[in-house]
Amino acid sequence: MSQQPVFSLHCLSDLTLEQQSACQALSLAVYPPEEAWAGESIEWSASEWCVIGWDENQRALCYVGAIIRSGTLNDASVKIGGIGGVKTHPGARRKGLAASAIERAIEFFREQKTDFSLLVCDPRLVGFYERLGWQCFEGEMFVTQRGQRSVFKFNLPMIRPVCATISATGVVDLKGPPW
Ligand SMILES: CC(C)(COP(=O)(O)OP(=O)(O)OC[C@H]1O[C@@H](n2cnc3c(N)ncnc32)[C@H](O)[C@@H]1OP(=O)(O)O)[C@@H](O)C(=O)NCCC(=O)NCCS
Repeated sequence: MSQQPVFSLHCLSDLTLEQQSACQALSLAVYPPEEAWAGESIEWSASEWCVIGWDENQRALCYVGAIIRSGTLNDASVKIGGIGGVKTHPGARRKGLAASAIERAIEFFREQKTDFSLLVCDPRLVGFYERLGWQCFEGEMFVTQRGQRSVFKFNLPMIRPVCATISATGVVDLKGPPW
C-alpha cells in the first residue's frame, strides 16, 4: 500500500458491480471459504450502508457495515447505529484502517442523530474495541431469530455513546436480528 486509502461511505444498494466484486475479494481474503464460521446458523441483518477504505487501484482494503435500527434500552425507545462485518485485508492490518473506517461510520451515526452505536464481537477483540472507546454491554441483549424474541449469547455486545449519555447495563432489545 503506497498511499493512505480513501475512506468513503456508501449506500449498499448504490455500489457498482466493480465495487461489489472488490468487496467480495476482500471478504474472501479475510474469510477463506474453506474455513467454517460458528455464526453460520444465526440470522443476521444485512447492513444498509458501509464505509470502505479504497486503495489507489480501487481495491477494497477495509470494510465496515452500518445499519440504523429503532430498538429499546431499559424500555426506552432508542435509535441505534449498528456496526458489523468489520474487516481489513490481511496485508493491510495494524495501520489503523479499521479504526478510521469505524470513526467514519460513527460520524455518519452522529449526523443521523443515533443515541449510541452497538456491535457484537468475539471476546478476543474486546481490547481492540475498548481502545477505540467502546465498552462491553453488561446486561442482556434481545434479538429476533426467525420471528422469535431471544437472548443473544453468540458473542459480546459492545456499545459506544453517539448523541446520548447511556447506561451500558440493563436490557437492550434490537427488535430484529443482530448485525
Ligand atoms: C480486527 C481487524 C478488523 C482489525 O483491523 P485493522 O485495520 O488491522 O485495525 P487497526 O489497524 O485499526 O487496529 C489494529 C491494531 O493495530 C494497531 N495499529 C493501528 N495503527 C497502527 C500503526 N500505524 N502501526 C502499528 N500498529 C497500529 C492498533 O493499535 C491495534 O492494536 P490493538 O489491537 O492492540 O488495539 C482485522 O484484524 C480483521 O479483519 N480481522 C478479521 C475479521 C474480524 O475479526 N473482524 C472483526 C469482527 S467484530
